[in-house]
Amino acid sequence: MVSFTTIVTTALALIPGAITAPSGLVGYNIHSNSLETRQTPWQWWTEGQGQFSCQQQGGGKYSCTWSGKAGGGMVAGTGWGAGRKTVKYAGQYNAKGPGYLSLYGWTRNPLIEYYIVEGWDVLAPGEPWTLRGNFTSEGGNYLFYTAQRVNKPSIDGTRTFTQYFSVRVDAERRIGEVSGSINTANHFDAWSKFGYKIGGFAGSMFMVTEAFANGTKLPTGTSTITVS
Ligand SMILES: *[C@@H]1O[C@H](CO)[C@@H](O)[C@H](O)[C@H]1NC(C)=O
Ligand SMILES: *[C@@H]1O[C@H](CO)[C@@H](O)[C@H](O)[C@H]1NC(C)=O
Repeated sequence: MVSFTTIVTTALALIPGAITAPSGLVGYNIHSNSLETRQTPWQWWTEGQGQFSCQQQGGGKYSCTWSGKAGGGMVAGTGWGAGRKTVKYAGQYNAKGPGYLSLYGWTRNPLIEYYIVEGWDVLAPGEPWTLRGNFTSEGGNYLFYTAQRVNKPSIDGTRTFTQYFSVRVDAERRIGEVSGSINTANHFDAWSKFGYKIGGFAGSMFMVTEAFANGTKLPTGTSTITVS
């Protein structure tokens, strides 16, 4: 299997470079290792060792500071009702090491974990990604990948399921001051066109800062992101 890095490097060389306010944002502060309890309008989850600190600050804003040790990682972000909608984000994403700034959610029937990746410093996923196609949304070019997770944590406990990743072509090293507009319907429709449908939305979607260690690659950074 061709590694993700190879695929993306190749792909990057080939491609040139209706707003709903987040209603019902709730100040949940779940800190749990259980994916089943992660699905709230605010998610804050860590695993393994490291210093992780994230807070929701109201108005769709959250801030994180992280420094992960081997095996350590975190996910935090503001959520809102999942669906076909446009989500805007703006702020500072100062990440070093593995992780990404992305919109993230789940569907059931089929069980799918989906990501729309807007920024990263080092991308080092646990499974190989397979390129399925590319498309344009809101002025950005995206590559669509899938990955299979076998017996991994899900919102329904340990399961085997597919991950969908829309990856903004200029997401690599898109750190520092960031902003953008994500029209989720464009992504869902593109995935479907490539033969990868989503199921029924399960819980919320989130604009998350995700950071994780991969071997000797350790994540550090800060982020302050507001979604609207
Ligand atoms: C994007 O899709 C078009 C049409 O299918 C294809 O010709 C092109 O090679 C693709 N580009 C990348 C980077 O995958
Ligand atoms: C680390 O990243 C590499 C390259 O993407 C991948 O092959 C490996 O499985 C990753 N390891 C972990 C523990 O995620």
